Amino acid sequence: MKALLATEKPFAKAAVEGIRKIFEAAGIEVALLEKYSGAGELIAAVADVDALIVRSDKVTKEVTDAAKNLKIVVRAGAGYDNLDLAACTARGIVAMNTPGQNANAVAELALGMMVFMARNSFTPGTGAELKGKKAGVHAYGNVGRLVAKLAQGFGMEVYAFDPFICREDMEQDGVTAVSSAEELYSTCQYVSLHIPATEQTKKSIGYHLLAKMPKGGCLVNTARKEVIHEEELEKALEERPDLKYITDVAADAHAALCQKFGTRVFATPKKIGAETAEANINAGLAAASQIVAFFKTGDKRFQVN
Ligand code: 3PG
Repeated sequence: MKALLATEKPFAKAAVEGIRKIFEAAGIEVALLEKYSGAGELIAAVADVDALIVRSDKVTKEVTDAAKNLKIVVRAGAGYDNLDLAACTARGIVAMNTPGQNANAVAELALGMMVFMARNSFTPGTGAELKGKKAGVHAYGNVGRLVAKLAQGFGMEVYAFDPFICREDMEQDGVTAVSSAEELYSTCQYVSLHIPATEQTKKSIGYHLLAKMPKGGCLVNTARKEVIHEEELEKALEERPDLKYITDVAADAHAALCQKFGTRVFATPKKIGAETAEANINAGLAAASQIVAFFKTGDKRFQVN
């Protein structure tokens, strides 16, 4: 039996070693494909593998068609919009994610981004503090919950909107649950986005929400660029010289936005939310363990297709 760890953005060494140990202890051979440059390399590498671990690497129909022996693919991370679930299902491949394993890293980055914007992108001049400000958490999953907790640590007043979580769960955490995204954006100066990219959410964050933000509003996106309606973001930034946008995944029009809005817009050069040794180890080892459990006992606990 053979497993492939295919990471265009490689895991920390300790995570790779840990993954290797888990597979070797289970008698599974491991192959490594890191920093590859095109889909062709991934397609060639999956030809003889039974299991696959990826990060944001795209597992398309071409990949599943080429992977004749593939039985399980695990996205070592939370968002699985990079997996073609229909293609996996059609070939009887079990698809999983590792929910929560990299959440703390992403949450810490979200708060770091708020500080960065509050302090004028770390340039000279008078900035502001997060203490006493209102933080809005858009989607109260594993990352959202941690963002709420960290924001409370900064002395922020935390609000959240998530139609799939009961109000009591949020209120138990000292978070004010609001009834709509509109209410969240019109209440909070900082909004941290944690919705997945799905057919329903793509381009869902636009002018109708951003234009409602209080003075000095700042949208923090450590989720996916696809959920932003870029043209409407631009319109909101144009109309409101006080609005700011910081993201861990650059907008398609990032260069143009920067040219127009300067330091009011910031994007990390490459997605770094889950780029900590701890998150790599947590998500990578969880992925390997889930694969071993699947082959040993048929455990499909984290299946998403
Ligand atoms: C996730 O969905 O888990 C994060 O976006 C992390 O993605 P990455 O593994 O590509 O860093």
